[in-house]
Amino acid sequence: REQVELINSIPKAELHVHIEGTFEPELMFTIAERNDIRLKYKSVDDLRAAYQFNNLQEFLDLYYAGAYVLLYEQDFYDLTMAYLKKCHEEKVVHTEIFFDPQTHTQRGVPFKNVINGILQACIDARNEWGITYRLIPNFLRHLSEEDAIKTFKESLQYGELFTAYGLDSSEKGHPPAKFKKVFEMVRTEGFLTVAHAGEEGPAQNVWDAIELLKVARIDHGVRSIDDAELLDKLARIEMPLTVCPLSNLKLKVVNDMADHPLKKLLDHNIVATINSDDPAYFGGYMNANFQSVTEALDLTNDDIVTLAVNSFKASFLSDEEKQKWF
Ligand code: ADE
Ligand code: ZN
Repeated sequence: REQVELINSIPKAELHVHIEGTFEPELMFTIAERNDIRLKYKSVDDLRAAYQFNNLQEFLDLYYAGAYVLLYEQDFYDLTMAYLKKCHEEKVVHTEIFFDPQTHTQRGVPFKNVINGILQACIDARNEWGITYRLIPNFLRHLSEEDAIKTFKESLQYGELFTAYGLDSSEKGHPPAKFKKVFEMVRTEGFLTVAHAGEEGPAQNVWDAIELLKVARIDHGVRSIDDAELLDKLARIEMPLTVCPLSNLKLKVVNDMADHPLKKLLDHNIVATINSDDPAYFGGYMNANFQSVTEALDLTNDDIVTLAVNSFKASFLSDEEKQKWF
């Protein structure tokens, strides 16, 4: 169809992708083998068959288990390069990559292995394909704020590589207020902030991410649909939402893609964007996400263009860099 062509060919930015969530089963087996780690699944098919989730936590348990085979700089390089190759194929010309330092440092993997591997892949992809990038470490919200502060301080030796810091992992029981202090430290050091909010948690978490954590973007934010006053506010202050449709379906944030609030958010003039979140686990990269909502919600060509323009508008590119794309 003509819309498939438009989706595949229009330049896009991805603003919400966890590099650990791009870990395809095939690569996981390859790296496990060379690192002498035994996976608890017999085969790639076996592992892929386990990708059925009833909620965020069931997914996170598998996602953290998968990340355990990543040990060396080469592992992080291969992981990131495989994702960037997808970007190149799908006309994703700019990407803002999340990674979870604590998932790795907690088990003794040096910060430098993580960052050097990811960074070298980004540099190579920029030289090869012209893809631009930003790197955004995320704090794990199921761990303490003390641990986030410790991680932030350790990360500062690479501080010039980072544009922003984020907050991810289990939203239930770990509200934005828990991380008020570390986010203040992050902003004081001159970084932007983002946070997952209103994915499984209530619209109140979106308010709190804005007011307590002073974020520049909300990751997910789809529960905002429950709060008319919040929707007005998001539109008025032009607060971007990095929406992840296939993720929401796979984690049962929505029961059917036809029920996804994306179209309502757009119609409310909210700066919504489309993103893949953890594409290896949720069954699709950027274009599959665009495709899926386009079909389920009858998006128009204008909607698709708006989503692509929003992705640059909401990005952390400089104004000068943005002008290249819209
Ligand atoms: N970490 C990776 N993907 C996530 C998601 N969708 N929500 C919260 N934490 C995550
Ligand atoms: Zn996410």
